[in-house]
Amino acid sequence: MKTAFITGIAGQDGSYLAEYLVELGYTVYGIVRRNSVPENQSCRIQHLLDSEKIITLYGDLLDFSSLENALKIAQPDEIYNLAAQSHVRISSDIPVFTTQVNSIGALNMLEAYRKICPKARYYQASSSEMFGNSIEDKEGTQNENTRMHPVSPYGCSKLYAYHMTKHYRHAYGLFTCNGILFNHESPRRASNFVTSKIVKSAIRIKKGLQSRLELGNLDTYRDWGHSYDYVRAMHAIVVNDKPDDFVVATGITHSVRELCDYVFSKLGLDYTKYVVQKEIYKRPEELQYLKGDSSKAREKLKWKPKYTFETLLDEMIEHYSSLI
Ligand code: NAP
Ligand code: GDD
Repeated sequence: MKTAFITGIAGQDGSYLAEYLVELGYTVYGIVRRNSVPENQSCRIQHLLDSEKIITLYGDLLDFSSLENALKIAQPDEIYNLAAQSHVRISSDIPVFTTQVNSIGALNMLEAYRKICPKARYYQASSSEMFGNSIEDKEGTQNENTRMHPVSPYGCSKLYAYHMTKHYRHAYGLFTCNGILFNHESPRRASNFVTSKIVKSAIRIKKGLQSRLELGNLDTYRDWGHSYDYVRAMHAIVVNDKPDDFVVATGITHSVRELCDYVFSKLGLDYTKYVVQKEIYKRPEELQYLKGDSSKAREKLKWKPKYTFETLLDEMIEHYSSLI
C-alpha cells in the first residue's frame, strides 16, 4: 500500500485528489494551516476526516520545520505540492505574499523532500497562467514547448516553482514532475473564481435574492475543465515511467461572456439584463486567451477528461440550486 502526502489538501484539488487516492488504497497525509475558524479550514475534507480516511497535520509552506516534521511522520512514496495563494487577481494585491508562498514555499517543499525522502516522487502544481499571452502554433493553443511570459505576480511565482522543479530533477536526479494545468472548476471551487461566482449569482438572481452581477473582463477566453478529471491526471503524471512535464487541458475554449450566456440561459434568464462590468474586477494586465493542447498527456498517460464545459457547469448549477 502506498502513502501520499498532499499540501493544499483542504483546497479544491487537494480534496478531490485525497478522495481519489483513498479509493485507490493509498494512505493519505496532508498539511493544513491553522485557521481561527477550524470548520472553514476543513469543510471540503470533513467527510474524509470523519471516516478517518486521511490524516492531517498542521503545517505551512513558509515554515520549513513543519514540512520536515510532516515528511518524517508520513514517509510518503508520492508528494503532491498543491498549496498556493491561487487567486490571480488577488496576487496583484498581495504580490510579495503570493511569491513567498508559491515560489519560496515550493522551494521549501523541494528542499524538505530532498532531505527527508528523496526516493519519493514529486508533483508540482504548475499553471497555464505561466504562458501569459504566448500563442505560437497556428491552432492558437499552448503546449509544453510554448514560451512562458507570465502577466501576473501569480504567474511569475508559479514559473519560479516550475523551473526549480525541473532543476531538482536534472541536478539531483529526483523524480520531480510538473503538471501544467489549465483552469479547472467544480462545486468545490471558491466563490471568488469566475465560474463559481457566475453560477451562484445567477441562481440568487433567479430566486430574487440579488439584482445584478458585477464582473470584470467578459471577453477573455479560458479552457475550463473539471477538478475531478484533473486530479486523475496528476496521479497519472506521478506514476508514469519517467519524470516529465505535461499540459492538462480540454482543448476547448470559451469566453467569460459565453459562460454567462450558458448559465443564465439554463436558468431561463438573459444575462445581458443582469451583468454589469466593474473596473475593480479587472486585472492590471490580462491574460486574454487560453486553449491547451494536451496531446502529450493523452498519448503518453492515456488521460482524457470525462466532463465537458456543459456537464461541468450543469453539475455546478445543480449543486448550488439545492443549496441556495
Ligand atoms: P485552492 O482551492 O485555492 O487551494 C489551495 C490550498 O493551498 C488551500 O487549501 C490553502 O489553504 C492552501 N495553502 C495556501 N497557502 C498555504 C501555505 N502557505 N501553506 C500551506 N497551505 C497553503 O486551489 P486549487 O484550485 O485546489 O489549486 C491547487 C493548486 O493547483 C494550486 O497550487 C493552484 O495554484 C494550482 N492550479 C490550479 C488551477 C485551477 O484552475 N484550479 C489551475 C492550475 C494550477 P487555506 O485554505 O488555508 O488558504
Ligand atoms: N475571478 C474573477 N472575478 N474573474 C473574472 C471576473 C470576476 O468578477 N470577471 C471576469 N473575470 C475573468 C478574469 O479576468 C479571467 O480572465 C477569467 O475570468 C477567469 O478568472 P478566474 O476564474 O479568477 O481564473 P484565472 O484564469 O484567473 O486563474 C485560475 O486558473 C489558473 C490556470 O490558468 C486559477 O485557478 C489559477 O490558480 C490557475 O493557475
